[in-house]
Amino acid sequence: MYQLQGKVAIVTGSGRHKGIGEAIVLRLAAEGCRVVVSDLGQPKGEEFSAEHIGTTAEMEEIAEAARRVGAQVIAVPCDVRIEAQVENLIAQTVEAFGAVDILVNNAGVGYLMEPFVEFKESSWDAVLDVNLKGAFLCSKHAARQMIRQSTGGSIINIASQAAKSGFPYAAAYTASKHGLVGLTRSNAVELGRYKIRVNAVCPNHITTGLGHWQNQFFSEKFGLDYETYLQGIRERNPLGRTGMVEDIANAVAFLASDQASYITGEAMNVSGGEEYH
Ligand SMILES: NC(=O)c1ccc[n+]([C@@H]2O[C@H](COP(=O)([O-])OP(=O)(O)OC[C@H]3O[C@@H](n4cnc5c(N)ncnc54)[C@H](O)[C@@H]3O)[C@@H](O)[C@H]2O)c1
Repeated sequence: MYQLQGKVAIVTGSGRHKGIGEAIVLRLAAEGCRVVVSDLGQPKGEEFSAEHIGTTAEMEEIAEAARRVGAQVIAVPCDVRIEAQVENLIAQTVEAFGAVDILVNNAGVGYLMEPFVEFKESSWDAVLDVNLKGAFLCSKHAARQMIRQSTGGSIINIASQAAKSGFPYAAAYTASKHGLVGLTRSNAVELGRYKIRVNAVCPNHITTGLGHWQNQFFSEKFGLDYETYLQGIRERNPLGRTGMVEDIANAVAFLASDQASYITGEAMNVSGGEEYH
């Protein structure tokens, strides 16, 4: 549909079932891309425990599902906070597929939420390191490769409604996602001369693994049961529902394609009208 046949796409944080990254992988595979499924793979300390991250086994399952759609797919573990691992991710992609055309910075931590006056420095660092520094490192090394290729490229940052509005208990998350839009704009301006377009997508609530954790957290904080809390989100939304992972994958496929060839530096809301600035 979007003529992405043969394009090489890396999707970070895409090794978790029910996640936005998984949906993006499957959609880009269906569009004919060659795809790199990347995620942490292994739990790391208290902040990156098994319940929150995409494991190596899940990465392989998602890669296999994308192969069934007919795509060439590799799975590469990468901690986006570590520059050497990011360099390895790009190198393995180029070794397997010869290029990097599309980078989706999807890896994110949205479960370290605390009252602001009690916010731990370690939580702040973990969130900023993944959501913002990770996107910086991946964009830097992907852009280097895209510049070497001289064929342009598309970098898509999965930001959030929290990139435009404030949320309680989420100082680090909100700051990181606002920062990600800043990175998007700066990179769009600087990399445009290489025909590299840089855009962000800003979803509202989606009940992924991360979204489920947030529903539990906020319903408890607001003294509501889980379903009442979710129903409140639906009722506030002009289109009367929460987001679906496919909504984001649709926007990513469009932004990755030549149909969006004159769009760069945007932070596109995909929120059913809940966010509109
Ligand atoms: N679900 C929502 O409501 C929602 C709303 C707005 C934005 N988002 C954003 O969408 C993106 C995907 O979130 P999701 O809801 O699909 O959750 P998810 O938990 O399924 O995906 C996040 C992924 O990031 C990975 N990750 C965490 N730390 C990493 C690291 N150091 N290196 C590499 N990967 C790492 C996790 O392993 C996980 O697979 C995130 O950036 C999130 O902030 C989600």
